[in-house]
Amino acid sequence: MTVDTGSRVNANAGYGIRRATLFDLLAIRWLEKQVFPHDAYGLIEILVLFVSPGMHNLKLIAPDGALAGFAAAGKLFGLGRTWIVTIGIHPDHQRRGLGRWLLAECEARITTGPIYLTVRRSNARAQDLYLRNGYREFHVRRGYYPNGEDGIEMRKDLDPPGIQR
Ligand SMILES: CC(C)(COP(=O)(O)OP(=O)(O)OC[C@H]1O[C@@H](n2cnc3c(N)ncnc32)[C@H](O)[C@@H]1OP(=O)(O)O)[C@@H](O)C(=O)NCCC(=O)NCCS
Repeated sequence: MTVDTGSRVNANAGYGIRRATLFDLLAIRWLEKQVFPHDAYGLIEILVLFVSPGMHNLKLIAPDGALAGFAAAGKLFGLGRTWIVTIGIHPDHQRRGLGRWLLAECEARITTGPIYLTVRRSNARAQDLYLRNGYREFHVRRGYYPNGEDGIEMRKDLDPPGIQR
């Protein structure tokens, strides 16, 4: 179970990033449907993120208090590779640097790399965000998504402890 209770505030815009809890379950489900019209996680899948040790579940709160984004990162059930399992910014709040910020906050909570993620081949916007932030394509999962689209696996190596850029 994650014990991180840290909270971050983007002073420029009044947005905040906080640890999400089970009380956010329905709001996250609603957000997932806005962000991923074809691939939204169901309640059970979201619940798994919260009961899985090793996961960091972060919510982005808009200045008016609405849920503007959600990301989950870590090792599912504490096992295997470290993944950015999901990340999404509500369409009303995209293209303001918030996705990049949420991604960075996920990475800040991960102590051992590398970090992996899978993105649709057609999702150029997300791939651009990842490429700009140090992720590199290393594998293609043919027909990974339900509609047969390929999944591009990307990976980022973390700096060894003590090295800061
Ligand atoms: C992919 C996604 C998370 C990006 O979120 P976002 O908040 O729009 O992204 P950002 O604004 O942080 O950054 C994206 C790019 O937008 C541009 N950008 C950032 N702020 C901007 C602004 N104020 N004006 C114009 N462009 C801007 C930049 O090119 C930025 O790239 P960089 O900061 O890495 O150089 C978002 O589009 C999304 O939720 N998409 C649907 C779900 C999805 O595809 N998730 C990923 C699945 S793998």
